[in-house]
Amino acid sequence: MNAARVISANFTLTPLCLPDRQDLFDHLSDPETVAFMDIEPMADLAAADAMIGWANKLLASGGGLWWAIRDQDAAFVGTAGFAGLVRERGSRGEVSYNVVRSRWRRGVMAEVLPALLDYGFGMLGLRRIEATVTPGNLASAALLERFGFQREATLRDHAFWKGRYWDQWLYARLAP
Ligand SMILES: CC(C)(COP(=O)(O)OP(=O)(O)OC[C@H]1O[C@@H](n2cnc3c(N)ncnc32)[C@H](O)[C@@H]1OP(=O)(O)O)[C@@H](O)C(=O)NCCC(=O)NCCS
Repeated sequence: MNAARVISANFTLTPLCLPDRQDLFDHLSDPETVAFMDIEPMADLAAADAMIGWANKLLASGGGLWWAIRDQDAAFVGTAGFAGLVRERGSRGEVSYNVVRSRWRRGVMAEVLPALLDYGFGMLGLRRIEATVTPGNLASAALLERFGFQREATLRDHAFWKGRYWDQWLYARLAP
């Protein structure tokens, strides 16, 4: 699978790669940004390298793809991607995203999420796009609901990270 560049009016998404390591570290070493995510705040650049390695493997395995998001000045504003792509007996995947905290509430995802959905339903040919949200992450839940996702379930003790099990809200949107 190739990860194509995704372009919206104000943002360009390119496959996450080693030159992104410092920006990725600066972004995901912020405890507030990762509070509802399945990772600890990054402690060093090696953690950024590990995430880039994970993204490369994801792409090579066909299980998903991950991008760095940059604005028109090439400033890094976050990351987003698809994981958990299922191609047999269904066509679905999970979308995820995170925006640099200084850019929250300034319309980044309101522009990027529709571009991701177009890519998922179009280029990837998905029938169903899912998103899992940690209960309490009202920003992410509201974003998904604004763009037509329905909350279908609360998955109890669905995931284990940061030393404990976490429920997850399961959201999904079907192809138009
Ligand atoms: C969730 C997140 C990606 C939203 O991105 P953003 O670029 O700030 O969102 P936008 O400014 O484009 O807002 C789009 C919509 O999202 C919702 N939203 C975003 N932030 C919100 C907040 N703090 N409270 C309530 N709703 C919010 C609203 O529906 C908003 O539409 P509106 O402005 O018409 O009300 C961002 O807060 C983030 O990166 N959080 C940390 C990482 C994270 O939790 N990722 C998701 C893991 S599931």
